[in-house]
Amino acid sequence: MSRLNSIDDLTKLRRQLKGETFIPDKNRVRICCGTACVASGSKKLVKELEAESAGKGIELEVVKTGCQGLCQKGPVMSVEPHGFFYQKVKPDDAKNLIAHTFSAGTSLRSLLYRDSIMTSPVEEVQNVPFYKKQLRIALRNNGRIDPNNIHHYLAVGGYTAAEKMFGSMTSDSVLHEIDRANLRGRGGAGFPAGKKWAHTNKSPEKTRFVIANGDEGDPGAFMDRAIMEGDPHSLLEGMLVCAYALKAHYGFIYVRHEYPLAVKNLKLAIKQAEELGLLGENILGTGFDFIVDIREGAGAFVCGESTALVASIEGERGFPRPRPPRLSEVGGGLWGYPSNLNNIETYACMPPIIEKGADWFLGIGTTTSPGTKVFAVTGKVKNTGLVEVPMGTTLREIIYDIGGGILDDKEFKAIQTGGPSGGCLPAAQLDLPVDFDSLYRVGSMMGSGGMVVLDEETCMVDVAKYFLSFTQSESCGKCPPCRVGTYQMLQILERITTGHGEHGDIQRLIDLGKLIQKGSLCGLGQSAPNPVLSTIKYFRHEYEEHIYDNYCRSNVCSNTGVFLIHQPDCIRCGLCKKACAFDAVKETKDIYTIDRQYCTKCKACYAVCPVGAVKIKKQSVVKLEEQFRIPTDKLEVLERRAKMTLKDVLSSKPMKVFTCKKDCKLADAVTLMDGNNIGSLLVVDDKENLLGIFTERDIMHCFAKKVAMNDELMGNVMTANPITLDSSVDIAVAVQLMSDKKIRHLPVTEDEKIAGMINYRDLVSYLLPEVIYMAEDM
Ligand SMILES: Cc1cc2nc3c(=O)[nH]c(=O)nc-3n(C[C@H](O)[C@H](O)[C@H](O)COP(=O)(O)O)c2cc1C
Ligand code: SF4
Ligand code: SF4
Ligand code: FES
Repeated sequence: MSRLNSIDDLTKLRRQLKGETFIPDKNRVRICCGTACVASGSKKLVKELEAESAGKGIELEVVKTGCQGLCQKGPVMSVEPHGFFYQKVKPDDAKNLIAHTFSAGTSLRSLLYRDSIMTSPVEEVQNVPFYKKQLRIALRNNGRIDPNNIHHYLAVGGYTAAEKMFGSMTSDSVLHEIDRANLRGRGGAGFPAGKKWAHTNKSPEKTRFVIANGDEGDPGAFMDRAIMEGDPHSLLEGMLVCAYALKAHYGFIYVRHEYPLAVKNLKLAIKQAEELGLLGENILGTGFDFIVDIREGAGAFVCGESTALVASIEGERGFPRPRPPRLSEVGGGLWGYPSNLNNIETYACMPPIIEKGADWFLGIGTTTSPGTKVFAVTGKVKNTGLVEVPMGTTLREIIYDIGGGILDDKEFKAIQTGGPSGGCLPAAQLDLPVDFDSLYRVGSMMGSGGMVVLDEETCMVDVAKYFLSFTQSESCGKCPPCRVGTYQMLQILERITTGHGEHGDIQRLIDLGKLIQKGSLCGLGQSAPNPVLSTIKYFRHEYEEHIYDNYCRSNVCSNTGVFLIHQPDCIRCGLCKKACAFDAVKETKDIYTIDRQYCTKCKACYAVCPVGAVKIKKQSVVKLEEQFRIPTDKLEVLERRAKMTLKDVLSSKPMKVFTCKKDCKLADAVTLMDGNNIGSLLVVDDKENLLGIFTERDIMHCFAKKVAMNDELMGNVMTANPITLDSSVDIAVAVQLMSDKKIRHLPVTEDEKIAGMINYRDLVSYLLPEVIYMAEDM
């Protein structure tokens, strides 16, 4: 590879490569050799295809590409000149593939993509639904080129931005263009790259560093790995653009050591770029130097945080440092020099912006978040993988049009965005156009672009516990709110998910979460409570069911619910009896029943029953059944009724809520209750926050204690911090709670504000028609 000594040399080489690389109408396969496809055998497939085509005397170009996105269906490949897309190709398929496609010119049906066995296969890659709605900027070369061949990158337009920049732009005009494009950082916070650069550029210190963050610690995210493995030169060219703008001469790529292929491909790419004179000293004869090196991290999540990352490169322990000084300031960056840190995807977007201009970029995406974003879509969705779409694409389009919908056609329950620091959004948010700001507004975040799709069988409390346990174990321990607070939150979640939740636990989680957000030094602690707070915001009823009804609607949490056998479904196989280690399944007169006294709720019977006859019921519903003596098979109807929410009760019988302040005289409060014929009064502060409740029973206590009616204030006689339930909670839970706690009046909240009052009589009368109907039926 001879060195390019001028911009002209580069132009000529590209022109030459364009003519001789990827010649149209040639037999060619572009096989994915990304980590996931290699794991499913793509290397062996390459060998088989090469051997088979040579044996048949067919000239075949095999391009070993990086990740093509649809990892779940790997190994995947595109075939030219036909345009076919093949998936799940095994080495054994090589013979048939060569015979059908390259000898006969027809597609091999068994390897084509199809949504399900009911739908026809799709031949061409551009018609595969997974790719149809995608627009690729950061991933523009993934799946097209061999990352180990710099000529491929040049042939598809690589280093055109460098050519333009060195040929016709000043450092300031490069900075201005990136700033004008409003390219927001793809690593998490969405801070505009141009603004960050301008800050570094202001520094009086002229030694500056350019750093690329390839730590990618979010579980499930792998877009940065895909770029580093599949198109390393787009990262190097992006870093070169940044270095030129900041007049920086040294760069580091920080990669986690669990990404060996990324490290290997990056090392080779740096070597090739240096040999060609596109990196290193005197780039393209312009006199500009930029030397890039790689630093491998040990895989701690916190090392992705900017200051911890800097400490790690310096050889220190990856502990976050207080800011200011910021990385961009003297004293804040690498070895105290001002440094610019951007994410891998952010850098990969820079060359096309310089090449095509900021206006082109601004024309894609939304007003405040231009461009595209790569998402790692995982979880209960049919097509998992990497998806790059314009900002503003809705969650529904990503999950259903691209992702193919929910696995096994189950119900969608939620989507977790932003990795362990993000939040969970419910079905009501499916039409949300996704960008940095919209996600933040609804209580989640973009993060690095992780998207975990959750179906009806997911317990949202368990999900929150899962994400919190990740951040808790990854906390570096430097500051107590993060170290101790996340542990305490986890303890509370642990007891809720094992059926030992207590009244007040939800508020404790909220209070601790807010405290941790405020008191933590770095983004790890500041965002760790997000999954818990967002699930409380959107799925509070699930928390309340666990706590007040000892029930997990998704049957995920152990030690919850009441186990019983639904006799009409039971085929009397006896498997449950054999499975129960506690002898809780009893057999009498050929009927199997579960003795609750011995049942430990271990779920062994539930797991073995071949026909789903073992049911896990709500404690409250079973209690209603026993109170009204309704047989189990009739219970379904009552359960449906009891599944109505408190919101339904409130809207069927709207009632004014009467409130007073803490300094209201007891006599005035009683007069108010008497005048309006109400049994309870809520005590609130100036912002209408609930402080306490005062009921008829409290009046009796005051009489008994001979309290001075005209002098005593409500603040002294009310019941402080009363039990409340969210309006999304089922009636059954409220009945259970009110009978357990022996309360008759229940304030109902929505978004933590008072939404109404419900009394026990209202609930029973709401259920009564159904009960009477069933009693008549019996
Ligand atoms: C705990 C924690 C982990 C992080 N991990 C990463 C990471 O793996 N990759 C990344 O690019 N940014 C990560 N970030 C964000 C970085 O601190 C930083 O904001 C980002 O790399 C800046 O690049 P950008 O502006 O291009 O997004 C993390 C932040 C925190 C608080
Ligand atoms: S917030 Fe957590 S991870 Fe960050 S410095 Fe403090 S203890 Fe360490
Ligand atoms: S395993 Fe299921 S079907 Fe078999 S006896 Fe038990 S409840 Fe009935
Ligand atoms: S690794 Fe092959 S498609 Fe992702």
